[in-house]
Amino acid sequence: MTTFLVTGATGRIGVPTTAQLRNAGHDVRALSRRSGPGLVTGDLLTGVDSAVLDDVDTIIHLATTNGAKDIQVAENLFRAAAEAGVAHVVLLSIVGIDTIPMGFYKHRVQIEEIATNSHVPVTLQRATQFHPFVEQMFTAQRFSPVFVSPSIRFQPIGTAEVAARLVELAAGDPAGRVDDIGGPEQRTASDLLDAWKQATGRHRPSIPGKLFKAFAAGENLIEGPGFGNQTFKQYLADKYPAVS
Ligand SMILES: NC(=O)c1ccc[n+]([C@@H]2O[C@H](COP(=O)([O-])OP(=O)(O)OC[C@H]3O[C@@H](n4cnc5c(N)ncnc54)[C@H](OP(=O)(O)O)[C@@H]3O)[C@@H](O)[C@H]2O)c1
Repeated sequence: MTTFLVTGATGRIGVPTTAQLRNAGHDVRALSRRSGPGLVTGDLLTGVDSAVLDDVDTIIHLATTNGAKDIQVAENLFRAAAEAGVAHVVLLSIVGIDTIPMGFYKHRVQIEEIATNSHVPVTLQRATQFHPFVEQMFTAQRFSPVFVSPSIRFQPIGTAEVAARLVELAAGDPAGRVDDIGGPEQRTASDLLDAWKQATGRHRPSIPGKLFKAFAAGENLIEGPGFGNQTFKQYLADKYPAVS
């Protein structure tokens, strides 16, 4: 029987992936920094306990801190996987990471390189944003006047469907980079937000919306002369004297 290790097993995509593997009768180690029923405890940032990888054939790597620490996590995992003789690692990545100029995406490119250059056979699947991730962007916006541009398009995808693809890939042979997957529809952020508002009955600031309009109209500014002297440029020069 194949033994799987799922990292990030408590996350958005880790939960359905672990469940689908278990429903299919596989032996699954579900890794988390936490402890609890059905979980194997471990922190990939500090290293990988060799017992965690004992007899593991295939890893599905889904752990993320959404930051630069993910690089160290990947280095630790792939080194340990090579030492343990793991036969296959499936890595989930994100569509467009090499062409969209974002710091977080640069980390994802580095992680793909760590995987490809490791001595472990890999399958690399890129996917578009998950539905719950897109929803989270909308719920987070009530705290922020910085809105997603309404004309940006997304192609959100269901986590159960991504999980099914990962399970299929993990059950097969290492395949290197496979075709990217994206959800069934490309929709503007504005469109998706309207759908979310309708479904939830909530009235968060729309895009552009009342809040955006208020900022655009300068409601966060005062009339008449400013108070004090320190400009933003001066503030930066005071804070970062060596650079300016
Ligand atoms: N979100 C998206 O829309 C999207 C789209 C395409 C691809 N992806 C990729 O899919 C992967 C998973 O994303 P997600 O949205 O499911 O993430 P998530 O919900 O934020 O879950 C992150 C997981 O990583 C685990 N984790 C974090 N640091 C860890 C550490 N040091 N050691 C061990 N486990 C650690 C967490 O477990 P504990 O907290 O329980 O330890 C948690 O299970 C990422 O590689 C991401 O780039 C995401």
